[in-house]
Amino acid sequence: MHRLVVESKVLDENSTYAYLLMATEFADSSIVADRDGELHGFVMGYHPPSRPEALFVWQVVVAAAARGSGLGGTMLDTLVERVRRDRHGHPLTLEATVAPSNSASRALFGGFARRHGVPVVELPWYGAELLDADLAHEEEPLLRIGPVTAELNC
Ligand SMILES: CC(C)(COP(=O)(O)OP(=O)(O)OC[C@H]1O[C@@H](n2cnc3c(N)ncnc32)[C@H](O)[C@@H]1OP(=O)(O)O)[C@@H](O)C(=O)NCCC(=O)NCCS
Repeated sequence: MHRLVVESKVLDENSTYAYLLMATEFADSSIVADRDGELHGFVMGYHPPSRPEALFVWQVVVAAAARGSGLGGTMLDTLVERVRRDRHGHPLTLEATVAPSNSASRALFGGFARRHGVPVVELPWYGAELLDADLAHEEEPLLRIGPVTAELNC
């Protein structure tokens, strides 16, 4: 997971320890995509204690060679379906912060909203001044997508 993030050259790199922690303690709200033992992508999420009905996606990444073929969207759909099943079908709102220039990520969450027929609400969240004193990091507004209340009809 750490290697995929480093190779993405877009995401903030956390320690290997942080990924181990998420993979063990937050496995129920995360998902990986592997083929023949090779990791092609993951979604790392958790339920914010103040908004347990939400699934906050901390990081989502797909290996460069596997991008653009629907893997990101499939991981989101599969994870949301699994979490909702574990929660006896309760509504779930997907959340993520996405920098304004990250068009692939915006398209990913926009596609999720379209497939599930739910709105996307964008709110100011982490301002650039909080992320880097020199404002070298873009702001990270919050996207709230949902609530998802029904299964996807494929
Ligand atoms: C964002 C990311 C996970 C998307 O994964 P993916 O498997 O390529 O996404 P999908 O193939 O499922 O495509 C999802 C949608 O995004 C669109 N899309 C994919 N790459 C795109 C790009 N570079 N620019 C614009 N749109 C793009 C697809 O056309 C699709 O749109 P649709 O639902 O309208 O058909 C992947 O690009 C990535 O790992 N990027 C680097 C890490 C990152 O930015 N993560 C998000 C921030 S946490």
